[in-house]
Amino acid sequence: DKGIYPYYMLKEIDEQPVVMRRLMERYFDANGQALVGKAILDEMRAADQIYIIAAGTSYHAGLAGARMFEQWAQKPTQVYLSSEFAYEQPLLVEKPFFIFLSQSGETADSREVLQNINQAGYHSLTLTNVEKSTLWREATYALPLLAGPEIAVASTKAYVAQVTLQAILAYALVDSQVANLDLQDELSEITVGIQGIIDDKETFQAVADELLVPETTHSAFYIGRGVDSTVALEAALKLKEISYVQAEGFAAGELKHGTLALIEEETPVMALITQPKTAGLVRGNLSETTARGSHAFTIVTKALAQDGDGYVLPDTNPLLAPLLSVIPAQLLAYYTSLGRGLDVDRPRNLAKSVTVQ
Ligand code: M6R
Repeated sequence: DKGIYPYYMLKEIDEQPVVMRRLMERYFDANGQALVGKAILDEMRAADQIYIIAAGTSYHAGLAGARMFEQWAQKPTQVYLSSEFAYEQPLLVEKPFFIFLSQSGETADSREVLQNINQAGYHSLTLTNVEKSTLWREATYALPLLAGPEIAVASTKAYVAQVTLQAILAYALVDSQVANLDLQDELSEITVGIQGIIDDKETFQAVADELLVPETTHSAFYIGRGVDSTVALEAALKLKEISYVQAEGFAAGELKHGTLALIEEETPVMALITQPKTAGLVRGNLSETTARGSHAFTIVTKALAQDGDGYVLPDTNPLLAPLLSVIPAQLLAYYTSLGRGLDVDRPRNLAKSVTVQ
């Protein structure tokens, strides 16, 4: 029941702080140690490489998670679209371990991959929102995302849950001294930060009206570097799927390799700037678009903020920044769809769960 909400999507965006708290309660003990099960961790430690298999938003969550497995846990990690992996399997390492990410646990292409790897005798872990779903039942291990039912076709809280649970898994693989991070503490602060962005939601209604004008805006771009480039993909998917604005998300350095040709007067370009190492480079890329008349909007963490920035996020560990930066993108997509009078929860041509290949 969507209660006071006009659309499930807004309700589900609002639920994200609750989902974060639920995950923390379930997956941390009283001393802040991650609780994900010894057998899972042993298998991940023994693996030469982790393969993350997913589709759509879950794939984007995997792209963000892979960086934590690599940078915190020093575990080589590759992320694959299940629709590709299923029909053209890459050459595998000797000891692979598979992680399936899926809100529904029923995505047909991901099921196909799981069937194939089960036949080959490899082990896997599914992170899903639906306990007892096919991917839950058929994987060696499964952990729940605890996001609660997600009804809107556009996935929001499942993404946040997937990134959070992958962070907990990656953190569990390393000595916290090595990671130089108190993850529970950081996630608590992020939860407060997410609530703050949600409390500011009217800001995004105004930005959507101004930046993504219904009569004139037909295309938009999200750019970022490092993990921000993965959020750019998710942000663009959210926008195109419910507002029908043609949106592209990509690594900012790629702009001048082609996409810059598409920038015209008033083309919206949203830049995600949360990574200290590359903030200056992204600003440089963005100014190449403003020089061609783009309408720029920056979503930037506090320590990297400058005068004239669009929206300022609280600071956090750079690899956890997607948990914050995705929220403005969800809200921008929501208000753009709403402003165009579209059915936010049920965009044309799409189903919540893709059960055909
Ligand atoms: O249930 P799954 O997470 O496996 O679904 C994957 C995609 O179909 C899903 O994320 C889709 O891209 C969403 N509509 C995006 O908002």
